[in-house]
Parts: sequence; C-alpha cells; structure tokens
Amino acid sequence: MTMNICSTESHKTMEGQLGVFMIALVLLLIFQSGLAQEVSLNSSIERSALLVLRSSLGLRGKDWPIKGEPCKWVGVECQNGRVIRITVSGLRRTHEGKGKPMFAVDSLANLTSLIYFNASGFYLPGSIPDWFGQRLNALQVLDLRSASIIGPIPSSLGGLSRLTELYLSHNDLTGSIPSSLGQVEELSVLDLSQNSFTGLIPSDFSSLGNLTRLDLSSNFLSGPIPPGLGNLSRLQFLSLSDNSLADSVPVQLGDLSRLLELNLSKNSLSGLLPLELRGLRSLRRMYIGDNSIEGSLPEGLFSNLSQLQVVVLRRNKLDGALPVALWSILSLQFLDVSSNNFTGALPSLSLDSSVTGALFNLSNNMLYGNLTFSLSKFSSIDLSGNYFQGKKPEDSQGNVTLTKNCLQMENQRSLQDCRLFYVERDLPFEDSMAPGLKSDWKSNKRLIFILVGVFGGLFFIVLLIVVLLVLRKIRDKGIANQRGSANVRPVPEGDSPSLPKGPIFVSGVGESFSYEQMLHFTSDFSESNFIKHGHSGDLFKGFLEGGMPVVIKKVDLRFFKKESYMMELEFFAKVSHVRLVPLLGHCLEHESKKFLVYKYLPNGDLENSLHRYISLEDGRLQSQDWITRLKIAIGAAEALAFLHHECTPPLVHRY
Ligand SMILES: *[C@@H]1O[C@H](CO)[C@@H](O)[C@H](O)[C@H]1NC(C)=O
Ligand SMILES: *[C@@H]1O[C@H](CO)[C@@H](O)[C@H](O)[C@H]1NC(C)=O
Ligand SMILES: *[C@@H]1O[C@H](CO)[C@@H](O)[C@H](O)[C@H]1NC(C)=O
Ligand SMILES: *[C@@H]1O[C@H](CO)[C@@H](O)[C@H](O)[C@H]1NC(C)=O
Ligand SMILES: *[C@@H]1O[C@H](CO)[C@@H](O)[C@H](O)[C@H]1NC(C)=O
Ligand SMILES: *[C@@H]1O[C@H](CO)[C@@H](O)[C@H](O)[C@H]1NC(C)=O
Ligand SMILES: *[C@@H]1O[C@H](CO)[C@@H](O)[C@H](O)[C@H]1NC(C)=O
Ligand SMILES: *[C@@H]1O[C@H](CO)[C@@H](O)[C@H](O)[C@H]1NC(C)=O
Ligand SMILES: *[C@@H]1O[C@H](CO)[C@@H](O)[C@H](O)[C@H]1NC(C)=O
Ligand SMILES: *[C@@H]1O[C@H](CO)[C@@H](O)[C@H](O)[C@H]1NC(C)=O
Ligand SMILES: *[C@@H]1O[C@H](CO)[C@@H](O)[C@H](O)[C@H]1NC(C)=O
Repeated sequence: MTMNICSTESHKTMEGQLGVFMIALVLLLIFQSGLAQEVSLNSSIERSALLVLRSSLGLRGKDWPIKGEPCKWVGVECQNGRVIRITVSGLRRTHEGKGKPMFAVDSLANLTSLIYFNASGFYLPGSIPDWFGQRLNALQVLDLRSASIIGPIPSSLGGLSRLTELYLSHNDLTGSIPSSLGQVEELSVLDLSQNSFTGLIPSDFSSLGNLTRLDLSSNFLSGPIPPGLGNLSRLQFLSLSDNSLADSVPVQLGDLSRLLELNLSKNSLSGLLPLELRGLRSLRRMYIGDNSIEGSLPEGLFSNLSQLQVVVLRRNKLDGALPVALWSILSLQFLDVSSNNFTGALPSLSLDSSVTGALFNLSNNMLYGNLTFSLSKFSSIDLSGNYFQGKKPEDSQGNVTLTKNCLQMENQRSLQDCRLFYVERDLPFEDSMAPGLKSDWKSNKRLIFILVGVFGGLFFIVLLIVVLLVLRKIRDKGIANQRGSANVRPVPEGDSPSLPKGPIFVSGVGESFSYEQMLHFTSDFSESNFIKHGHSGDLFKGFLEGGMPVVIKKVDLRFFKKESYMMELEFFAKVSHVRLVPLLGHCLEHESKKFLVYKYLPNGDLENSLHRYISLEDGRLQSQDWITRLKIAIGAAEALAFLHHECTPPLVHRY
C-alpha cells in the first residue's frame, strides 16, 4: 500500500515531493517496526533448540532472557520465523556454565535454517561433532577461531555444500586435513592456520575454484605444495608459511594471476624459484624467507610484477646477482634479501630512481663495489656484512647500517678478507685506502698470531738493547776520552745518566699536544697513516687541526728507552738548524706512549730521495739525476758539519 501512495504522488512539484518523501519515510519507519514485531520464532522446535543451547553453553539471562523473544537475543538473528544467524562470541557464561564448559551445541541440529554460526573466542573445549556436516545443511559461515577446539576435523564437514567461509584457526586441531574439504565447491575462505595439523595438503583442494583466501600457516604440514593450487584462479591470499613443506615451489603457482599475497616463509622449500612466478601479476606482498631455496633469481622474474610492495627472501641459499628489474618496481617499500649469497654490484642509476622512504635489508650477502647511490632516501637501509668498498658515504647517518664491509670507516672487515674477496673475483680493490688494522683484532685466531709476533719482537728488542748496553759499557771503559757513542739517536755529550727532570725542561720545545689530539691527527694511528718503523719509534703522517701535514713519531716506552725521546727533546731545546727537520711539538701525557711532532717533508727520507721510485716497464728503479744527488750531498754535509763543529757540545749521529 505504501508503494501505491508513493508512486501516485511522484509527479508533483518539488515541495510536494519533499512532503511525500517525509510521509513515505514515516510510513517506512512504521512498516519497519511492524516487521520487527513480526520477527518472532514461530517454530516451536527452534525455540526449544535455542533454550537447550542456552543452557548447554551456560549463557546468562542478561544476554538471552528466558522470557524474552529469542529472535531479539544478543547475537541471534531470525528470518521468516526461523533462526538464521547465531553469534556467541563475546557472550559471557554464568557461574555454572563456567564450571563445566563444553563443546555442547547439539541443539544446533534442529536449527535447519542456520546459515551463520560464530563462536570465535568463545571457550568450547571439545571436538567438532561428526553430525555438523550432515545436519547443518544450510550453513554458509562457520567461525570457530580461538575456541580451544581439539581433535581432528570430521571428514563429514565436506558435506556442507553451501559453506563459503570456514575459520578454524588458533585451536588445537590435530590429524590430517580431510581431503573431503575439497568438495566444498563454494568455499571462498579456508583458514586452518595455527593448529597442529600433520600430513599433506590435500591435492583435492585444486577443485576449490571459488577460493579467495587459503591460510594453512603455522601447522606441521609436510610434503610438497600441490601443483593443483595453481588452479585456484580466484585466490588472492595464500599462506602456507611456518610448516615443514618440502620440494620446490611448483611452477603452477605462477598461474595465480589474482594473488595479492603469497606467504611461503619458514618451510623447507628447496630448488630454484621458478621464472613462472612472473605470472603473479597482481602480487603485492611476497614472503618466501627462511627456506632453502637456491640458485639465482631468474632475470625476468620481477619484470611484470609491477605491483610489488613487499619482497622478503631472507635466509635462503640464493646466489647470483639481484635482478635489475627489482630496482625499477616503483611501488616497492620493503625489500629483505638478507642472509643469502647474492653477489654483484648494485646498479646506481636504477636505485636512485626508485621510491623514497623504503626499507631495504641487503645485509649478509656478498655484494660489492662502490656505493654510488643516495642512502638518505631510504627510511632504513642495512648493507652490513657485504663487501662494499670506497669512502665512507656522506649520507650514512640515520637508519643506515654499513658495518662489516670493506669501506673506509670503522667496524669493517679485515683488510685480508677484503683483499682476498676482491682478488678471488679479479675485481679492482682500492687497497691503499683500505680499512684500518684495528678490525684485524676482532679475530681471536689472528690475535694469537699478532701477540706471538709482538712478544717475539719485544724479546728480540730487549735482547738487542742488552747487547748494545753491554757493548757500550765496554767501549766507554776502553775509550774514556772519546766523545759520542754507538747510540742510534742524536745524543748529547757524555751520555749523562742524570736526565732532564721532565716537562719544565721541554716546555720550550714546540707546542704541547694532548693524547686525544694525537689520535685525531693520525686517524687513530691507522695503517693508512703509517710511514715506517724508525730507529727510535714508529713514524706516522698526520694533519694538524688547520690541515698542516706533520710527521708524528710514536715512542712506545715498552719497546724504546725513555732516554731516546728525552735526549731528542733536550737536543731540540738547545739547537735548531735549517738542515735539521724542525720539531713542532710533543705529547708526553700518555704513560707509555710519547710523541714527537715534526714538520712533514714531502720528499720523504734520504733513502727514498736517492731513487725516484718510478718503476719502469722492466721493473728497474730510475736513479736521481746527478745534479740532484750533488745537492743532496751538500745538504747532508751541511747538517753533519753543524752537528760536529758548530753545535756545542758536538754530536755524532749514526744513520
Ligand atoms: C512462520 O512465519 C513466516 C512468516 O514470518 C511464515 O512464512 C511461515 O509460514 C510461518 N511458519 C509457521 C510454521 O507458522
Ligand atoms: C530436535 O527436535 C526434536 C523434536 O523436538 C527432538 O526430539 C530432538 O531431541 C531435537 N534434537 C536435538 C539435538 O536437540
Ligand atoms: C565472528 O565474531 C567476531 C567477534 O564479534 C568478529 O570479529 C568476526 O568477524 C566474526 N566472524 C565472521 C566470519 O563474521
Ligand atoms: C563458485 O560459486 C558459484 C556460486 O557462487 C558456483 O556457481 C560456482 O560453481 C562455483 N565455482 C566453482 C569453480 O566451484
Ligand atoms: C588444473 O587446470 C588444468 C587446466 O587449466 C587442468 O588440466 C587440470 O586438470 C586441473 N587440475 C586439477 C587438479 O583440477
Ligand atoms: C608470513 O608467515 C610468517 C610465518 O608464519 C609470519 O611470521 C608472517 O607474519 C607472515 N607474514 C604476513 C604478512 O602474514
Ligand atoms: C608482461 O606484461 C606485458 C604487458 O602487461 C605482457 O604483454 C607480457 O606478456 C607479460 N609477460 C609475461 C612473461 O607475463
Ligand atoms: C654461500 O656460498 C658459500 C660458498 O660459495 C657457502 O660456503 C655458503 O654456505 C653459502 N651461504 C649460504 C647462506 O648459502
Ligand atoms: C636485516 O636482516 C638481518 C637478518 O637477516 C637482521 O639481523 C637485521 O636486524 C636486519 N636489519 C634491519 C635494519 O632490520
Ligand atoms: C669505485 O670508485 C673509484 C673512485 O672512487 C673508482 O676508481 C673505481 O673504478 C670504482 N670502482 C667500480 C667498481 O666502479
Ligand atoms: C628508521 O626506521 C624506522 C623503521 O624501521 C622508522 O620508523 C624511522 O622513521 C626511521 N628513521 C629515520 C630517521 O628515517
């Protein structure tokens, strides 16, 4: 009747139409409330079935009032006087009901119109009754997630021919998955995840042509992935992760052209990743980490997977280069290929054009070469545990991890490892600017060798000093009047045992530096700054704060006598000459290491200057020309003349 009024008035003016609309709305409301009143169970069988269910589950009168209309109970929905939907999840039990909770839903068998039963999160300890499959013929949705259900799935469940959604995840279901489920042709969602199912994935699942979501993750399923899954052409979500599935990924999976998410991680899958997976045109998220997949990724694999946002291949045995096409997927936000054997250099240009703000983890592979792309555009990038070389990237702050590479910065691989890696592959390695020796100390084995070397050397030096001292004593006694000594360093006359009293004495000799400054000037005495072992200490090149180059002699008192540097300081406090390398400063604050800072002479020492050190093609060294040699000789003679004759007291210096 309402429809008649509405249609006869429909040609009136705007205002009229509005009025009619209001009337229709009011009528509609009345009609609806009338309908609601009409909704009542007119089947006495169903009414008593619900009452039995109420007591068997121990539901409270507050939710399911015994005197009220059952169709208005919380979670109950009726249609045409019959119960069609029941949701007990979220309902609470009475005290009595809590006392003996059970999977007691037998009376559901008399609700023959029931299309939806949801008990997710409702405690139902017990097994799924066998009659479910025979009696609940109208059932379309069964949700028993997180309900503490135990035992196997009765194979009769395959008889629920109308079923479209079956959720049984987060329970303690055991046994094998019945292949009869493959007969439920209208099934669209099948979620059996987080149970204890064993055995194979039924190959009959290939007939579930309407399936959009299949989740069998976190069980104990074994055997291969059935190739028939490739026939599930409507599948959008497939997770078989966290099982014990073996063999290779079937090529047929590539037929799943509507698949959005594929999760095969945490299995024992092996073999190659098939090129056919390039058919997963719609794929957004690919998780295949934690398997034993080997070989290289097929070059064409990613060329058509332009929708990919997430690619996780971590902890496999993949090798070869990362396909170039991977870098041109603009939607890629998360890439984790860590802990594989991927190798090769990264393409700089393509990486620069890819999206910003992505999270990339390429750690623990064998990637190498220069880092020529911008790191700051990633919200996080982990390149640790590879063999990248070159200078420390300028944009390496933030979420950038570069440890354990061959870069010119801290916390890198040892020089030997890096050299070996590059030499084995016949690749150019910028050896001269290689990482510091410090990283060598990481390896315990190497540490032992080094300690043996150091203590062996120390022993030798001590022996040498003792021998020298003895020799000198003998000579001093023999030639008492003679000046000078066999000492290695410039020494003052008489070899006086009463040494100067310390800093007061040397304060006039150049600038006084702190130990931190010494470390800073020489990049922590890195190997690249090392010049050579001198007679009285190791020589390092360094740069003062202003950038002025200097030579720093490091006198380690464990190896050299204290006198050596004190004599030198005393000497420089007294004399200076144009032919002597000027002393610029010193650092004496460290207990066992003392430092002398000299002007840096770019031409190196005498030995080096006599030869220009240009190796010709035949390997010979080219000599300095004679004019230069003459100049060198005159300069050296001037210095000696000064030491022997002009300086008081005169000095003898042994080269
Ligand atoms: C119950 O009510 C519906 C309409 O609401 C009606 O179609 C059906 O015939 C009734 N059944 C019985 C057994 O009265
Ligand atoms: C179903 O209803 C019939 C008739 O009322 C009754 O005899 C039977 O016990 C009920 N079955 C269950 C499982 O409640
Ligand atoms: C079952 O009920 C829970 C809680 O109300 C809800 O989150 C879930 O979506 C329901 N399941 C289905 C299949 O509708
Ligand atoms: C998918 O479901 C429709 C009904 O929704 C049904 O007609 C069709 O047969 C099903 N397809 C398959 C392959 O089972
Ligand atoms: C899968 O589909 C192919 C053709 O698309 C068909 O030949 C094959 O029999 C199907 N397999 C199963 C198990 O249904
Ligand atoms: C994929 O499966 C693993 C293992 O079950 C799980 O930890 C991970 O959360 C899954 N990923 C997604 C996106 O569901
Ligand atoms: C890739 O996509 C293009 C166009 O979308 C199509 O022509 C080509 O056949 C696809 N290649 C593969 C291997 O699927
Ligand atoms: C990588 O390859 C080396 C040999 O080339 C092998 O020893 C190592 O186990 C491989 N690592 C992985 C994670 O596959
Ligand atoms: C990268 O992956 C490794 C494991 O393969 C992990 O240890 C590391 O934390 C990851 N890096 C970041 C930044 O998440
Ligand atoms: C890396 O960069 C250096 C210059 O910084 C260059 O000499 C070298 O050829 C580069 N190596 C590669 C593999 O591109
Ligand atoms: C570092 O990475 C985390 C996620 O791993 C992200 O939330 C955070 O914004 C990143 N920080 C910067 C400075 O990019």
